[in-house]
Amino acid sequence: MDAKLLVGGTIVSSTGKVRADVLIENGKVAAVGMLDAATPDAVERVDCDGKYVMPGGIDVHTHIDSPLMGTTTADDFVSGTIAAATGGTTTIVDFGQQLAGKNLLESADAHHKKAQGKSVIDYGFHMCVTDLYENFDSHMAELTQDGISSFKVFMAYRGSLMINDGELFDILKGVGSSGAKLCVHAENGDVIDRIAADLYAQGKTGPGTHEIARPPASEVEAVSRAIKISRMAEVPLYFVHLSTQGAVEEVAAAQMTGWPISAETCTHYLSLSRDIYDQPGFEPAKAVLTPPLRTQEHQDALWRGINTGALSVVSSDHCPFCFEEKQRMGADDFRQIPNGGPGVEHRMLVMYETGVAEGKMTIEKFVEVTAENPAKQFDMYPKKGTIAPGSDADIIVVDPNGTTLISADTQKQNMDYTLFEGFKIRCSIDQVFSRGDLISVKGDYVGASGRGEFIKR
Ligand code: URP
Ligand code: ZN
Ligand code: ZN
Ligand code: ZN
Repeated sequence: MDAKLLVGGTIVSSTGKVRADVLIENGKVAAVGMLDAATPDAVERVDCDGKYVMPGGIDVHTHIDSPLMGTTTADDFVSGTIAAATGGTTTIVDFGQQLAGKNLLESADAHHKKAQGKSVIDYGFHMCVTDLYENFDSHMAELTQDGISSFKVFMAYRGSLMINDGELFDILKGVGSSGAKLCVHAENGDVIDRIAADLYAQGKTGPGTHEIARPPASEVEAVSRAIKISRMAEVPLYFVHLSTQGAVEEVAAAQMTGWPISAETCTHYLSLSRDIYDQPGFEPAKAVLTPPLRTQEHQDALWRGINTGALSVVSSDHCPFCFEEKQRMGADDFRQIPNGGPGVEHRMLVMYETGVAEGKMTIEKFVEVTAENPAKQFDMYPKKGTIAPGSDADIIVVDPNGTTLISADTQKQNMDYTLFEGFKIRCSIDQVFSRGDLISVKGDYVGASGRGEFIKR
Protein backbone atom coordinates (compact mmCIF):
# COMPACT_ATOMS: atom_id res chain seq x y z
CA MET A 1 0.00 0.00 0.00
CA ASP A 2 1.15 3.50 -0.87
CA ALA A 3 0.86 5.58 2.32
CA LYS A 4 2.07 8.92 3.69
CA LEU A 5 1.45 10.80 6.91
CA LEU A 6 1.40 14.60 6.95
CA VAL A 7 2.35 15.33 10.55
CA GLY A 8 1.49 18.27 12.77
CA GLY A 9 0.16 20.82 10.29
CA THR A 10 -2.79 23.17 10.68
CA ILE A 11 -5.58 21.85 8.50
CA VAL A 12 -7.80 24.56 7.10
CA SER A 13 -11.35 24.31 5.79
CA SER A 14 -14.03 26.95 5.19
CA THR A 15 -15.30 26.42 8.71
CA GLY A 16 -12.11 26.50 10.75
CA LYS A 17 -8.58 25.37 11.50
CA VAL A 18 -7.40 22.37 13.47
CA ARG A 19 -3.98 20.98 14.25
CA ALA A 20 -3.98 17.38 13.07
CA ASP A 21 -2.23 14.74 10.99
CA VAL A 22 -3.47 13.51 7.63
CA LEU A 23 -3.05 9.89 6.60
CA ILE A 24 -2.97 9.32 2.85
CA GLU A 25 -3.50 5.84 1.47
CA ASN A 26 -3.70 4.88 -2.18
CA GLY A 27 -4.29 8.44 -3.31
CA LYS A 28 -7.11 9.16 -0.89
CA VAL A 29 -7.35 10.77 2.51
CA ALA A 30 -7.70 7.79 4.84
CA ALA A 31 -7.95 9.59 8.18
CA VAL A 32 -7.55 12.98 9.87
CA GLY A 33 -6.66 13.26 13.55
CA MET A 34 -3.83 12.69 16.04
CA LEU A 35 -2.47 9.71 14.14
CA ASP A 36 1.31 9.83 14.52
CA ALA A 37 1.69 7.45 17.46
CA ALA A 38 -0.68 4.87 15.99
CA THR A 39 0.81 4.90 12.49
CA PRO A 40 3.50 2.29 11.71
CA ASP A 41 7.06 3.65 11.50
CA ALA A 42 7.34 2.33 7.95
CA VAL A 43 4.87 4.96 6.72
CA GLU A 44 6.63 7.96 5.19
CA ARG A 45 6.29 11.16 7.30
CA VAL A 46 6.05 14.70 5.96
CA ASP A 47 6.73 17.27 8.68
CA CYS A 48 4.08 19.99 8.47
CA ASP A 49 4.77 21.68 11.81
CA GLY A 50 4.03 25.39 11.51
CA LYS A 51 2.50 24.96 8.06
CA TYR A 52 -1.01 25.25 6.70
CA VAL A 53 -2.34 22.02 5.18
CA MET A 54 -5.09 22.92 2.72
CA PRO A 55 -7.07 21.43 -0.15
CA GLY A 56 -5.28 21.85 -3.49
CA GLY A 57 -6.51 24.80 -5.49
CA ILE A 58 -9.32 24.28 -7.98
CA ASP A 59 -9.34 26.69 -10.88
CA VAL A 60 -12.63 26.40 -12.75
CA HIS A 61 -11.81 28.97 -15.42
CA THR A 62 -8.87 28.30 -17.74
CA HIS A 63 -8.41 28.38 -21.52
CA ILE A 64 -5.64 25.92 -22.38
CA ASP A 65 -4.62 25.21 -25.98
CA SER A 66 -7.69 27.11 -27.02
CA PRO A 67 -8.50 28.83 -30.33
CA LEU A 68 -9.65 32.39 -29.60
CA MET A 69 -9.69 35.64 -31.59
CA GLY A 70 -7.83 34.18 -34.55
CA THR A 71 -4.98 32.68 -32.57
CA THR A 72 -4.39 30.02 -29.91
CA THR A 73 -3.65 30.43 -26.21
CA ALA A 74 0.03 30.00 -25.42
CA ASP A 75 -0.09 27.14 -22.90
CA ASP A 76 -0.81 23.58 -23.88
CA PHE A 77 -1.91 20.98 -21.31
CA VAL A 78 1.72 20.23 -20.43
CA SER A 79 2.96 23.73 -19.67
CA GLY A 80 -0.40 24.99 -18.39
CA THR A 81 -0.93 22.22 -15.87
CA ILE A 82 2.69 22.13 -14.70
CA ALA A 83 2.34 25.88 -14.07
CA ALA A 84 -0.91 25.24 -12.21
CA ALA A 85 0.62 22.48 -10.08
CA THR A 86 3.67 24.47 -9.03
CA GLY A 87 1.33 27.28 -7.98
CA GLY A 88 -0.73 24.99 -5.75
CA THR A 89 -3.59 24.19 -8.10
CA THR A 90 -4.40 20.49 -8.36
CA THR A 91 -7.56 20.63 -10.49
CA ILE A 92 -8.68 22.74 -13.41
CA VAL A 93 -11.94 22.91 -15.28
CA ASP A 94 -11.00 24.15 -18.73
CA PHE A 95 -13.15 25.76 -21.41
CA GLY A 96 -13.35 23.74 -24.62
CA GLN A 97 -14.36 25.91 -27.58
CA GLN A 98 -17.01 24.84 -30.05
CA LEU A 99 -14.91 24.59 -33.20
CA ALA A 100 -15.84 26.17 -36.54
CA GLY A 101 -18.26 23.92 -38.42
CA LYS A 102 -18.19 21.31 -35.63
CA ASN A 103 -20.91 20.24 -33.25
CA LEU A 104 -20.49 20.04 -29.48
CA LEU A 105 -19.65 16.32 -29.42
CA GLU A 106 -16.91 16.67 -32.04
CA SER A 107 -15.55 19.76 -30.28
CA ALA A 108 -15.45 18.00 -26.92
CA ASP A 109 -13.61 15.06 -28.50
CA ALA A 110 -11.04 17.44 -29.95
CA HIS A 111 -10.49 19.01 -26.53
CA HIS A 112 -10.12 15.58 -24.91
CA LYS A 113 -7.34 14.80 -27.41
CA LYS A 114 -5.48 17.94 -26.41
CA ALA A 115 -5.53 17.07 -22.71
CA GLN A 116 -5.28 13.29 -22.57
CA GLY A 117 -1.84 12.07 -21.63
CA LYS A 118 -0.59 15.65 -21.27
CA SER A 119 -2.29 17.14 -18.23
CA VAL A 120 -0.32 16.53 -15.04
CA ILE A 121 -3.28 17.36 -12.78
CA ASP A 122 -6.88 16.21 -12.80
CA TYR A 123 -9.06 18.16 -15.17
CA GLY A 124 -12.63 18.65 -16.28
CA PHE A 125 -14.16 20.58 -19.15
CA HIS A 126 -16.91 23.07 -19.71
CA MET A 127 -17.97 23.38 -23.35
CA CYS A 128 -18.57 26.79 -24.91
CA VAL A 129 -21.72 26.93 -27.01
CA THR A 130 -21.24 29.50 -29.75
CA ASP A 131 -23.13 28.14 -32.76
CA LEU A 132 -26.58 26.62 -32.28
CA TYR A 133 -27.83 23.86 -34.56
CA GLU A 134 -30.77 21.49 -34.63
CA ASN A 135 -30.77 19.17 -31.61
CA PHE A 136 -27.86 20.94 -29.93
CA ASP A 137 -29.71 20.32 -26.68
CA SER A 138 -29.55 16.55 -27.12
CA HIS A 139 -25.78 16.89 -27.49
CA MET A 140 -25.69 18.95 -24.30
CA ALA A 141 -27.58 16.17 -22.54
CA GLU A 142 -25.16 13.56 -23.93
CA LEU A 143 -22.11 15.54 -22.82
CA THR A 144 -23.63 15.97 -19.38
CA GLN A 145 -23.96 12.18 -19.16
CA ASP A 146 -20.30 11.91 -20.22
CA GLY A 147 -19.24 14.15 -17.33
CA ILE A 148 -19.08 17.52 -19.05
CA SER A 149 -21.87 19.00 -16.99
CA SER A 150 -21.32 22.71 -17.59
CA PHE A 151 -21.39 25.02 -20.59
CA LYS A 152 -20.49 28.61 -21.35
CA VAL A 153 -22.08 31.28 -23.50
CA PHE A 154 -20.87 34.74 -24.50
CA MET A 155 -23.08 37.83 -24.58
CA ALA A 156 -20.23 39.64 -26.37
CA TYR A 157 -18.01 39.13 -29.46
CA ARG A 158 -20.66 39.36 -32.20
CA GLY A 159 -19.67 37.49 -35.33
CA SER A 160 -17.59 34.89 -33.52
CA LEU A 161 -18.76 33.83 -30.06
CA MET A 162 -21.85 35.88 -29.21
CA ILE A 163 -25.32 34.44 -28.81
CA ASN A 164 -28.51 36.52 -28.73
CA ASP A 165 -31.11 36.68 -25.96
CA GLY A 166 -33.39 34.07 -27.56
CA GLU A 167 -30.48 31.69 -27.89
CA LEU A 168 -29.53 32.32 -24.26
CA PHE A 169 -33.09 31.37 -23.33
CA ASP A 170 -32.92 28.18 -25.46
CA ILE A 171 -29.55 27.16 -24.03
CA LEU A 172 -30.77 27.74 -20.48
CA LYS A 173 -33.72 25.45 -21.21
CA GLY A 174 -31.31 22.83 -22.59
CA VAL A 175 -29.08 23.11 -19.55
CA GLY A 176 -32.09 22.83 -17.25
CA SER A 177 -33.37 19.65 -18.84
CA SER A 178 -29.86 18.13 -18.92
CA GLY A 179 -29.21 18.85 -15.25
CA ALA A 180 -26.14 20.87 -16.24
CA LYS A 181 -24.95 24.37 -15.36
CA LEU A 182 -24.56 27.43 -17.57
CA CYS A 183 -21.64 29.84 -17.22
CA VAL A 184 -22.35 33.26 -18.69
CA HIS A 185 -19.90 35.84 -19.99
CA ALA A 186 -21.97 38.95 -19.37
CA GLU A 187 -21.05 42.02 -21.41
CA ASN A 188 -23.24 43.94 -23.84
CA GLY A 189 -21.31 43.04 -26.99
CA ASP A 190 -23.20 45.25 -29.44
CA VAL A 191 -22.79 48.43 -27.41
CA ILE A 192 -19.11 47.64 -26.79
CA ASP A 193 -18.59 47.20 -30.53
CA ARG A 194 -20.22 50.62 -31.22
CA ILE A 195 -18.11 52.41 -28.60
CA ALA A 196 -14.95 50.67 -29.83
CA ALA A 197 -15.65 51.61 -33.47
CA ASP A 198 -16.23 55.27 -32.51
CA LEU A 199 -13.00 55.40 -30.47
CA TYR A 200 -11.04 53.81 -33.30
CA ALA A 201 -12.49 56.31 -35.80
CA GLN A 202 -11.32 59.13 -33.50
CA GLY A 203 -7.79 57.79 -33.78
CA LYS A 204 -7.78 56.12 -30.37
CA THR A 205 -6.22 52.91 -31.68
CA GLY A 206 -3.85 52.01 -28.82
CA PRO A 207 -4.22 49.19 -26.28
CA GLY A 208 -5.38 51.41 -23.39
CA THR A 209 -8.56 52.16 -25.37
CA HIS A 210 -9.75 48.62 -24.59
CA GLU A 211 -10.79 49.76 -21.12
CA ILE A 212 -12.79 52.80 -22.31
CA ALA A 213 -14.67 50.66 -24.82
CA ARG A 214 -15.95 48.37 -22.07
CA PRO A 215 -17.45 50.67 -19.40
CA PRO A 216 -18.76 49.15 -16.16
CA ALA A 217 -22.36 49.55 -17.38
CA SER A 218 -21.65 47.22 -20.30
CA GLU A 219 -21.20 44.44 -17.75
CA VAL A 220 -23.93 45.50 -15.34
CA GLU A 221 -26.58 45.70 -18.07
CA ALA A 222 -25.74 42.23 -19.36
CA VAL A 223 -25.76 40.73 -15.86
CA SER A 224 -29.14 42.28 -15.16
CA ARG A 225 -30.56 41.07 -18.50
CA ALA A 226 -29.18 37.55 -18.10
CA ILE A 227 -30.70 37.25 -14.62
CA LYS A 228 -34.10 38.24 -16.02
CA ILE A 229 -33.78 35.76 -18.91
CA SER A 230 -32.75 33.08 -16.42
CA ARG A 231 -35.89 33.80 -14.39
CA MET A 232 -38.03 33.53 -17.53
CA ALA A 233 -36.36 30.21 -18.43
CA GLU A 234 -36.69 29.12 -14.79
CA VAL A 235 -33.09 27.93 -14.85
CA PRO A 236 -30.40 29.56 -12.69
CA LEU A 237 -26.93 30.41 -13.96
CA TYR A 238 -23.32 31.12 -12.98
CA PHE A 239 -21.56 34.35 -13.99
CA VAL A 240 -17.89 34.13 -14.90
CA HIS A 241 -15.31 36.87 -14.32
CA LEU A 242 -17.44 39.60 -12.72
CA SER A 243 -15.55 42.87 -12.37
CA THR A 244 -17.95 45.61 -11.24
CA GLN A 245 -19.81 46.84 -8.19
CA GLY A 246 -23.10 46.96 -10.12
CA ALA A 247 -22.77 43.32 -11.17
CA VAL A 248 -22.17 42.19 -7.59
CA GLU A 249 -25.23 44.16 -6.50
CA GLU A 250 -27.40 42.57 -9.22
CA VAL A 251 -26.26 39.09 -8.18
CA ALA A 252 -26.79 39.82 -4.47
CA ALA A 253 -30.27 41.23 -5.15
CA ALA A 254 -31.28 38.07 -7.05
CA GLN A 255 -29.89 35.87 -4.28
CA MET A 256 -31.84 37.89 -1.68
CA THR A 257 -35.08 36.95 -3.43
CA GLY A 258 -34.10 33.28 -3.30
CA TRP A 259 -33.11 32.98 -6.96
CA PRO A 260 -29.89 30.92 -6.86
CA ILE A 261 -27.58 32.89 -9.13
CA SER A 262 -23.90 32.17 -8.47
CA ALA A 263 -20.83 34.06 -9.55
CA GLU A 264 -17.08 34.24 -9.61
CA THR A 265 -14.54 36.98 -9.85
CA CYS A 266 -10.88 36.60 -10.80
CA THR A 267 -7.49 37.12 -9.20
CA HIS A 268 -6.65 40.15 -11.32
CA TYR A 269 -9.82 42.11 -10.48
CA LEU A 270 -9.08 41.66 -6.78
CA SER A 271 -5.39 42.56 -6.93
CA LEU A 272 -4.50 44.83 -9.85
CA SER A 273 -5.10 48.47 -10.62
CA ARG A 274 -6.52 49.75 -13.91
CA ASP A 275 -3.60 52.24 -13.96
CA ILE A 276 -1.75 49.92 -16.35
CA TYR A 277 -4.03 51.26 -19.11
CA ASP A 278 -2.41 54.71 -18.70
CA GLN A 279 1.12 53.43 -19.27
CA PRO A 280 2.95 54.53 -22.43
CA GLY A 281 3.61 52.41 -25.50
CA PHE A 282 2.11 48.95 -25.89
CA GLU A 283 2.41 48.05 -22.20
CA PRO A 284 -1.37 48.29 -21.55
CA ALA A 285 -1.87 45.32 -23.93
CA LYS A 286 -0.71 43.03 -21.14
CA ALA A 287 -4.01 43.82 -19.41
CA VAL A 288 -6.17 43.63 -22.51
CA LEU A 289 -8.45 41.04 -21.03
CA THR A 290 -12.20 41.02 -20.70
CA PRO A 291 -13.78 42.55 -18.77
CA PRO A 292 -10.97 45.07 -18.19
CA LEU A 293 -9.40 45.91 -14.84
CA ARG A 294 -11.48 48.44 -12.89
CA THR A 295 -11.04 51.24 -10.35
CA GLN A 296 -10.50 50.80 -6.61
CA GLU A 297 -14.20 51.38 -5.97
CA HIS A 298 -15.08 48.27 -7.95
CA GLN A 299 -12.26 46.27 -6.37
CA ASP A 300 -13.59 47.14 -2.90
CA ALA A 301 -17.06 45.99 -3.95
CA LEU A 302 -15.68 42.68 -5.23
CA TRP A 303 -14.01 42.07 -1.86
CA ARG A 304 -17.32 42.81 -0.13
CA GLY A 305 -18.94 40.32 -2.53
CA ILE A 306 -16.38 37.70 -1.52
CA ASN A 307 -16.84 38.28 2.17
CA THR A 308 -20.65 38.38 2.08
CA GLY A 309 -20.80 35.29 -0.13
CA ALA A 310 -22.45 36.96 -3.13
CA LEU A 311 -19.34 35.90 -5.05
CA SER A 312 -18.43 32.33 -4.21
CA VAL A 313 -15.44 31.54 -6.43
CA VAL A 314 -12.12 33.13 -7.42
CA SER A 315 -10.75 31.77 -10.68
CA SER A 316 -7.82 32.84 -12.83
CA ASP A 317 -9.42 33.14 -16.30
CA HIS A 318 -6.02 31.93 -17.48
CA CYS A 319 -6.16 32.92 -21.16
CA PRO A 320 -2.52 33.48 -22.06
CA PHE A 321 -1.28 35.31 -25.13
CA CYS A 322 2.33 36.41 -25.29
CA PHE A 323 3.06 40.13 -25.34
CA GLU A 324 4.81 39.63 -28.67
CA GLU A 325 1.66 37.95 -30.02
CA LYS A 326 -0.57 40.78 -28.79
CA GLN A 327 1.77 43.23 -30.51
CA ARG A 328 1.83 41.24 -33.73
CA MET A 329 -1.95 41.14 -33.95
CA GLY A 330 -3.03 44.46 -32.50
CA ALA A 331 -0.25 47.01 -32.99
CA ASP A 332 -2.51 49.27 -35.08
CA ASP A 333 -5.93 48.39 -33.69
CA PHE A 334 -6.70 47.57 -30.05
CA ARG A 335 -9.74 45.56 -31.20
CA GLN A 336 -7.45 42.95 -32.76
CA ILE A 337 -5.39 42.31 -29.61
CA PRO A 338 -6.26 38.82 -28.38
CA ASN A 339 -8.16 39.23 -25.11
CA GLY A 340 -6.77 37.48 -22.09
CA GLY A 341 -3.91 37.16 -19.67
CA PRO A 342 -2.03 34.42 -17.82
CA GLY A 343 -2.88 33.54 -14.22
CA VAL A 344 -3.28 29.84 -13.42
CA GLU A 345 0.18 29.64 -11.84
CA HIS A 346 -0.21 32.62 -9.51
CA ARG A 347 -3.87 32.59 -8.44
CA MET A 348 -3.26 30.84 -5.11
CA LEU A 349 -0.19 32.92 -4.22
CA VAL A 350 -1.73 36.25 -5.17
CA MET A 351 -4.97 35.46 -3.34
CA TYR A 352 -2.97 34.49 -0.26
CA GLU A 353 -1.05 37.76 -0.39
CA THR A 354 -3.78 40.24 -1.34
CA GLY A 355 -6.43 38.42 0.63
CA VAL A 356 -4.98 36.67 3.65
CA ALA A 357 -1.68 38.52 4.26
CA GLU A 358 -3.26 41.94 3.68
CA GLY A 359 -6.19 41.09 5.92
CA LYS A 360 -8.97 41.28 3.32
CA MET A 361 -10.13 37.70 3.93
CA THR A 362 -9.49 34.95 6.44
CA ILE A 363 -7.50 31.81 5.65
CA GLU A 364 -10.81 29.92 5.91
CA LYS A 365 -12.34 32.16 3.23
CA PHE A 366 -9.24 31.57 1.11
CA VAL A 367 -9.88 27.82 1.15
CA GLU A 368 -13.58 28.38 0.50
CA VAL A 369 -13.18 30.51 -2.63
CA THR A 370 -10.10 28.83 -4.13
CA ALA A 371 -11.02 25.17 -3.59
CA GLU A 372 -14.17 24.26 -1.66
CA ASN A 373 -16.75 26.37 -3.50
CA PRO A 374 -15.29 25.68 -6.96
CA ALA A 375 -15.67 21.95 -6.19
CA LYS A 376 -19.22 22.44 -4.94
CA GLN A 377 -20.29 24.66 -7.84
CA PHE A 378 -19.02 22.21 -10.44
CA ASP A 379 -20.00 18.83 -9.02
CA MET A 380 -16.63 17.67 -7.72
CA TYR A 381 -17.29 17.87 -3.97
CA PRO A 382 -16.32 16.03 -1.76
CA LYS A 383 -14.02 14.10 -4.12
CA LYS A 384 -12.19 17.42 -4.49
CA GLY A 385 -12.10 20.61 -2.43
CA THR A 386 -11.79 19.19 1.08
CA ILE A 387 -9.44 17.20 3.29
CA ALA A 388 -11.73 14.50 4.66
CA PRO A 389 -11.72 10.70 4.74
CA GLY A 390 -12.53 9.37 1.27
CA SER A 391 -11.55 12.53 -0.59
CA ASP A 392 -8.79 12.58 -3.17
CA ALA A 393 -5.53 13.49 -1.43
CA ASP A 394 -5.10 16.77 -3.34
CA ILE A 395 -3.28 18.77 -0.69
CA ILE A 396 -0.96 21.76 -0.47
CA VAL A 397 1.44 22.46 2.38
CA VAL A 398 1.93 26.21 2.76
CA ASP A 399 4.54 27.92 4.92
CA PRO A 400 3.18 31.22 6.26
CA ASN A 401 6.74 32.21 7.17
CA GLY A 402 8.06 31.58 3.67
CA THR A 403 8.25 34.10 0.85
CA THR A 404 7.82 33.85 -2.91
CA LEU A 405 8.75 36.42 -5.54
CA ILE A 406 6.67 36.32 -8.73
CA SER A 407 8.54 36.95 -11.94
CA ALA A 408 8.23 36.12 -15.62
CA ASP A 409 11.84 34.91 -15.49
CA THR A 410 10.99 32.03 -13.20
CA GLN A 411 7.39 31.23 -14.12
CA LYS A 412 6.35 27.89 -15.65
CA GLN A 413 3.59 29.38 -17.80
CA ASN A 414 4.64 29.51 -21.45
CA MET A 415 4.58 33.29 -21.35
CA ASP A 416 6.82 36.29 -21.79
CA TYR A 417 5.14 38.29 -19.03
CA THR A 418 3.04 38.05 -15.89
CA LEU A 419 0.65 40.70 -14.65
CA PHE A 420 1.93 40.01 -11.13
CA GLU A 421 5.57 40.82 -11.88
CA GLY A 422 7.46 41.72 -8.71
CA PHE A 423 4.70 40.66 -6.31
CA LYS A 424 6.26 39.60 -3.01
CA ILE A 425 4.12 36.88 -1.50
CA ARG A 426 4.27 36.31 2.25
CA CYS A 427 4.09 32.51 2.02
CA SER A 428 5.62 29.66 0.09
CA ILE A 429 3.88 26.59 -1.31
CA ASP A 430 6.28 23.94 -0.05
CA GLN A 431 4.63 20.72 -1.23
CA VAL A 432 1.79 19.88 -3.57
CA PHE A 433 0.15 16.45 -3.54
CA SER A 434 -2.22 15.24 -6.24
CA ARG A 435 -4.05 12.00 -5.38
CA GLY A 436 -1.29 11.40 -2.86
CA ASP A 437 1.59 11.85 -5.33
CA LEU A 438 4.10 14.54 -4.45
CA ILE A 439 4.09 16.62 -7.65
CA SER A 440 5.67 19.94 -6.67
CA VAL A 441 8.29 21.05 -4.15
CA LYS A 442 8.82 24.78 -3.55
CA GLY A 443 7.75 25.74 -7.04
CA ASP A 444 9.48 22.94 -8.94
CA TYR A 445 7.47 20.24 -10.66
CA VAL A 446 8.60 16.79 -9.51
CA GLY A 447 5.72 14.57 -10.66
CA ALA A 448 5.35 12.20 -13.58
CA SER A 449 4.32 13.45 -17.01
CA GLY A 450 0.75 13.11 -18.23
CA ARG A 451 -0.55 11.74 -14.91
CA GLY A 452 -3.76 13.82 -14.79
CA GLU A 453 -7.16 12.15 -15.04
CA PHE A 454 -10.35 13.46 -16.62
CA ILE A 455 -12.98 14.19 -13.96
CA LYS A 456 -16.49 13.12 -14.89
CA ARG A 457 -18.66 15.70 -13.21
O1 URP B 1 -9.95 38.05 -21.53
C1 URP B 1 -10.52 37.00 -21.59
N1 URP B 1 -11.23 36.62 -20.58
N2 URP B 1 -10.46 36.23 -22.69
C2 URP B 1 -11.47 35.64 -23.39
C3 URP B 1 -12.05 34.47 -22.72
C4 URP B 1 -13.18 34.80 -21.82
O2 URP B 1 -13.28 34.23 -20.75
O3 URP B 1 -14.00 35.62 -22.16
ZN1 ZN C 1 -15.55 35.17 -20.78
ZN1 ZN D 1 -12.23 33.12 -19.78
ZN1 ZN E 1 6.06 33.74 -26.67
